[in-house]
Amino acid sequence: MQKADTGLQQPPFSSHQDPYLKSRFSSDLALNQLYPVSSQLLAEKHWTPLNIARKAARYLANEEGARILDIGSGVGKFCLAAAYHQPKAQFFGIEQRHHLYHTAETARMNLALPNVEFIYGNFTQLDLTAYDHFYFYNSFHENLVDHDHIDESIDYSVELYFYYTRFLFKQLEKMPSGTRIVTYHSLEGEIPPGFNLAGSVMDSQLKFWIKH
Ligand SMILES: C[S@@+](CC[C@H](N)C(=O)[O-])C[C@H]1O[C@@H](n2cnc3c(N)ncnc32)[C@H](O)[C@@H]1O
Repeated sequence: MQKADTGLQQPPFSSHQDPYLKSRFSSDLALNQLYPVSSQLLAEKHWTPLNIARKAARYLANEEGARILDIGSGVGKFCLAAAYHQPKAQFFGIEQRHHLYHTAETARMNLALPNVEFIYGNFTQLDLTAYDHFYFYNSFHENLVDHDHIDESIDYSVELYFYYTRFLFKQLEKMPSGTRIVTYHSLEGEIPPGFNLAGSVMDSQLKFWIKH
């Protein structure tokens, strides 16, 4: 029997050869310009820089088909950059602010990367055991300070910081041996004792952990 011609279903380039993607992921400026100005203004303080995303993604995507969750995905910058650099892993992001989730979705559609998905909600609603590895850019920290908030659309409190940190700690405790997490600028209260530090770079701001 003649094989069906699937040529039309194949993208003309792999992600790394696609000139549009190549130029979008060539610099933070080029990627940030994909977003509305309001999101661009938050980039320096709140969204992961490309060189960090690349390093974190390389560590997390240790096996083909790994499911990696960004806890507090914002406008999706980490997930999109990670998905571009690690096409054999699946990246997921959960974000509590609807407008940021919507912005991430718009960017995802623009880039048409097949291995990234965004979820709207609070991470406490997710079953983290459905994922293999995690990325965490100090998402709860805005509860501890009264400046540099992303916006004033949610309530902040020190109690919420400890509640979320404890919740994540308890979820990570349940994860099997081999689970990896990369933290960026974290105070590490969410890391249970079973996780060992496998390495750190960028003046110890970026840390690579693995559960033994
Ligand atoms: C520092 S930003 C990092 C964004 C993204 N991970 C990146 O690296 O570009 C942290 C994000 O976590 C989100 N966040 C904080 N607490 C959350 C929670 N409990 N559930 C879901 N998202 C949360 C915030 O709304 C914010 O967008």
